Amino acid sequence: MSQHRSPVEGRVCVVTGGARGLGRAIASALAEGGACLALCDVLDEALDETAAALRAGGTDVFAERCDVTDSGAVDAFFARVAGTLGPVEVLVNNAALVPGGAADEVRRNQHYAYLTTPVPRRSLGFTSAMSDAEWLKYWDVNVHGTFYCTRAALRQMEPRGFGRIVNIASIAGLSAFSAHSPHYSATKGAVIAFTRSVAAEVAGANIFVNAIAPGGVATPMFDAYLARLDDEARGRLFQIIPAGRLGTMEEYAGLVVYLAGDNHYLAGQIISPNGAMF
Ligand SMILES: NC(=O)c1ccc[n+]([C@@H]2O[C@H](COP(=O)([O-])OP(=O)(O)OC[C@H]3O[C@@H](n4cnc5c(N)ncnc54)[C@H](O)[C@@H]3O)[C@@H](O)[C@H]2O)c1
Repeated sequence: MSQHRSPVEGRVCVVTGGARGLGRAIASALAEGGACLALCDVLDEALDETAAALRAGGTDVFAERCDVTDSGAVDAFFARVAGTLGPVEVLVNNAALVPGGAADEVRRNQHYAYLTTPVPRRSLGFTSAMSDAEWLKYWDVNVHGTFYCTRAALRQMEPRGFGRIVNIASIAGLSAFSAHSPHYSATKGAVIAFTRSVAAEVAGANIFVNAIAPGGVATPMFDAYLARLDDEARGRLFQIIPAGRLGTMEEYAGLVVYLAGDNHYLAGQIISPNGAMF
């Protein structure tokens, strides 16, 4: 076999939250590598559009609405993937709530200004103002959803003695760069701890579990946020990143394809492409 064989050729890959943003870029990169794709999301229109674009490129795609916070729906989705494409070989846990609403943006701007301006020290008061509902919503998607999908995938991977799981965590789970979003940071820290734990549990069955903890990703949503900042605020933000720019979606997706393949010995690792932020 050629040394240049794609590491994911013919593999059955599930990407959660694959309708848009980084999930869509990961799905495209896996498709370019010759994988068969199963995508789920809660955004029906975007999911249909992404699936159609991938099919137009010749990829076998199973796409269906599935809310990862619903364990019954997750189990049913994975059963249909197996029935349609075959047993799941690769799972990318990408679906997440990412702080991007108006209130999130106010906190984010306050935090970045506080980090980069010589102002008197004080509490920014984010945690003390947070509601139970806001906190729990993030845990439901980012942590419980990751567990439900991992469990469903392992039930198909364990009997076959092969699997690759890539969890999309965040630099927020490793550092205090997302102190503007304590709920998000806590959930991504939990994803990192879960990655290490489950990786040690299943590596003996040739199932390698790793996490990517991105710094900034140049998604359309992040780019739109940057466009709403004035030049000074945008400049201050890039001062926090020694590389002076966000990572492109393709840069992150290429790493996912590598981890999804079977020509490496990485298991239980947390890899953080972040332009030397941390
Ligand atoms: N954008 C960044 O700078 C950045 C940085 C670090 C980590 N990340 C991580 O990258 C991943 C992708 O984020 P993104 O920036 O593309 O954001 P995004 O909001 O565009 O993508 C998340 C996707 O998950 C889907 N989703 C949300 N809740 C769901 C649910 N209950 N069930 C199924 N799907 C659901 C969304 O509809 C969306 O399509 C996330 O795990 C995020 O935490 C992003």
